[in-house]
Amino acid sequence: MATSNQSGRAAARAGANFALVKYWGKADARLNVPAVGSISITLDALFTETEVQLEPTLRSDELVLDGKRRDEDIEKISACVDLLRRKAGVDTRVRVTSRNNFPTAAGLASSASGYAALVRAAETAFGLTLTPRERSIVARQGSGSAARSIFGGFVEMRAGSAPDGSDSFAEPLLESKEWPLEVAIAVTAKGEKEIGSRSGMTRSASSSPYYAAWVAGQPPDLAAARAAIRARDFAALAEVAEHNCLKMHAAAFAALPPLVYWNGATMECLHAVRRLRAAGVAVFFTIDAGPQLKAVCAPGALTIVERTLRAVPGVLELLTSALGPGAELR
Ligand code: PMV
Repeated sequence: MATSNQSGRAAARAGANFALVKYWGKADARLNVPAVGSISITLDALFTETEVQLEPTLRSDELVLDGKRRDEDIEKISACVDLLRRKAGVDTRVRVTSRNNFPTAAGLASSASGYAALVRAAETAFGLTLTPRERSIVARQGSGSAARSIFGGFVEMRAGSAPDGSDSFAEPLLESKEWPLEVAIAVTAKGEKEIGSRSGMTRSASSSPYYAAWVAGQPPDLAAARAAIRARDFAALAEVAEHNCLKMHAAAFAALPPLVYWNGATMECLHAVRRLRAAGVAVFFTIDAGPQLKAVCAPGALTIVERTLRAVPGVLELLTSALGPGAELR
C-alpha cells in the first residue's frame, strides 16, 4: 500500500495498546476528554492497517472493516475524519479500508489501533502534516485510548483541563527498546463484547458508588507507574498496575446494572498469573473492558507465562507480542 497525498490516498499501520493505569470515565463526552490520565504500552504484533482514499463522488464516507461494509460505525468515523477535513478546508468524502490482525472489539483495543491508523492515513490523504500531539488530540476524539496508539513503547495520556480539550493528549514516556517487556494475551472469548467502553464508562460514572473513589485514586497510581517505568522497577509496576486494574473493575462491578466483563477463564488466568509471580516469575496481569487477560512479562519470562496460560481451561488462543512503534505510514 503505497503512500501518496497527490492521489488522495494514504495507508498507515498502528499497534494496539493497553493500559497499565486505566482510562475509565469521561470528563467531557462530546469532546471525548477523559476524566483521568492513563499509562499504556503499545504492541507490535497486534495492529490495524488502514487505507484512506479520497472519493469526490461519494456523498458519505464508507468503511470496510475486515472485508465487511460497516455502515453502523460510519457516524463515529465521519466525526473523526471531519476534524481533519476542517483542518484541510475540504469537504471530500473518504473510503476507509481497514484490517485488524486480531479479534475486533473483544477487549483487545481495536478502537485504539483503528483510530490511530485512521488519523495517520487520513491526515496524509488530505495533504496535511500534523504534529504527533495534534494527531493524538484528533485520535482521542475517535477513541480515548487511540490517542495513546499514536506513540510507541510506554505512553502517558494526560486528561488535561482546558475546556476545548487542547491539553488532553498522549506523550511518549519510554521507548520500547529501553525496557523491552513482552506480553501474552489469553483470549477467552471471540465475539464482540456486549457493553462497549463508552456506555460502560457512562454507566459506571452515573451509578457506581465506587466511581468517585476510582477517579480520586488515579493521580497517585499514575505517579507510581511513571516512577516504576523510569526506574525499570518491574515489581513496583506490577503492584500498581494490578491494583489499578482491579479498582477499575470494582467500580464497573458496582455499577447498576452491573458491568461484569470477565468470564470464568479470565479469573482462572488471573490466579495463574498470581501463582507464577509468587513462584518468582516476573509477570503481572491487566484486564480491559472484555474477558481477555493480558499478562505483562519481564524479559525472559514470556515462555513460561505463555505455556502456563495456554493450559488454563477456557483459553481459546494465546497471542504474544513485544512492544512496538507508534502509528506509521506504510
Ligand atoms: O478508548 P476506549 O473508548 O476504547 O476506552 C478504553 C477503556 C479501557 O480499555 C478499559 C481502558 C484503557 O485505558 O484502555
